[in-house]
Amino acid sequence: MKIEGKEYRTIWFDEKNQTVKIIDQTKLPHQFIIKDLKTVKDAINAIKVMEVRGAPLIGGTAAYGIVLAIMEKNDLNFIKKSAEELTQSRPTAINLKWAVDRMMKKLSGVNNNELLKVALDEAKEICEEDVKFCENIGLNGLKIIEEIYNKKKDKVNILTHCNAGWLATINWGTATSPIYHAHKKGIPVHVWVDETRPRNQGANLTSYELNEEKIPNTIIADNTGGILMQRGEVDMCIVGTDRTLSTGDVCNKIGTYLKALAAKDNNVPFYVALPSSTIDWNIENFKDIPIEERNSEELSHMEGLDESNKVKKVRIYPKKSKTMNLAFDVTPAKYVTGLITEKGICEASKKGLKKLFK
Ligand code: MRU
Repeated sequence: MKIEGKEYRTIWFDEKNQTVKIIDQTKLPHQFIIKDLKTVKDAINAIKVMEVRGAPLIGGTAAYGIVLAIMEKNDLNFIKKSAEELTQSRPTAINLKWAVDRMMKKLSGVNNNELLKVALDEAKEICEEDVKFCENIGLNGLKIIEEIYNKKKDKVNILTHCNAGWLATINWGTATSPIYHAHKKGIPVHVWVDETRPRNQGANLTSYELNEEKIPNTIIADNTGGILMQRGEVDMCIVGTDRTLSTGDVCNKIGTYLKALAAKDNNVPFYVALPSSTIDWNIENFKDIPIEERNSEELSHMEGLDESNKVKKVRIYPKKSKTMNLAFDVTPAKYVTGLITEKGICEASKKGLKKLFK
C-alpha cells in the first residue's frame, strides 16, 4: 500500500546489502523510518519492542529472523536456539510459532551449503503467501460491505479496533483489506478508528494508513463505540486476530471483547478477518491462550510532538500509582458474526472452520 504516494511493503529483503528492511512502527505516525535488521537479535528485538507488530508481520519477521541467524552462523545449534528465542519473543500471536515451525521444517535435512538459499526462499514465500491471503480476505469481505451498501444506498460506516491494517501484515491488512477493496470499487466507506490505548495502534497506525490511502476515517476514544452503535452510526465492525481457536473464539487486542458485546447488544454485525496462519488448531479452551502482559510504562507514559515538533515522552499518571497492561483479550465465538478468511466467510465455530479448512 502507499505512503506519500509510494508503494511499500512492511518488510523485504535487501539483496544488495543482504539485510532485512522494515518500517519502524514505533516511530509512526510522526517519523517514517526504514530500518535494517542485520542479525537475529535485531529481529527478536524488533518484535519485542514492536518496531514490527501485528500477527502476520510478526510471523514474516520471525521467518526472516531465521535467515539472519543462518547468515550469522551456519550452525544447527545456533539456528535452533535462535528459533526458540524468536518463538518466545511475543507470546500471543500464533503466527510467530507457525512461521518458525514452517521454516525449521523446511530446513530439516538440508545441506549446510544450501541452508541460506532454502531459508531465504521460504521466508519470501511466507510473505508472498500472506499478501495473497490478505488480498483474498479483502475480496471476500468486500461482498459484505457491498451488500450493506446496496441496502443502505449510503456511506458504509465500519468500526475497527487496533491496527489489523497493512502495517500489521505484509500488505493489504486483514480487517482493512475489505475496506481498501470497497474503496477501490467506488463504494463510499467511512471508518471509525478506535484509538486503542495504551499504545494507540488505531490512532497512530490505522488512521495513518487510511489517510495515506485517502479513506475517510475518524479516531474515537476506545469507549465511544457503544454510543455510536446505539445511535445507528456503525453498520459493521471488522477486527483482526492474533489467535483464532478451532472453536471460533478469537483472541485480539485488549478491548475487542467489549466492542463485540456492544455490537451484539445493538445488532451490529461483528466480523473477524484472518489468514489461516492465525488459526490455532491445538488449543480448545480460550483460557489456555497465553495473554501477553506488557511493560506498565506503556500505560503511564505517552509520546507525541511538542511545540517545536520534537517527539517527546511524558508521564501521565501519578508516580505512585500501580498499572496493569494486559495486551489481549478473547471474544467468545457466540459474539462473532463470521470469520472472513482467504478461503471464504464462515461461521465462527468448529463446523464453520472445518468446512473451509479440511
Ligand atoms: O500488539 P499488536 O499491535 O501486535 O496487536 C495487533 C493486533 O491485535 C491485531 O489486531 C492482530 O495482530 C491482527 S493483525 C492482522
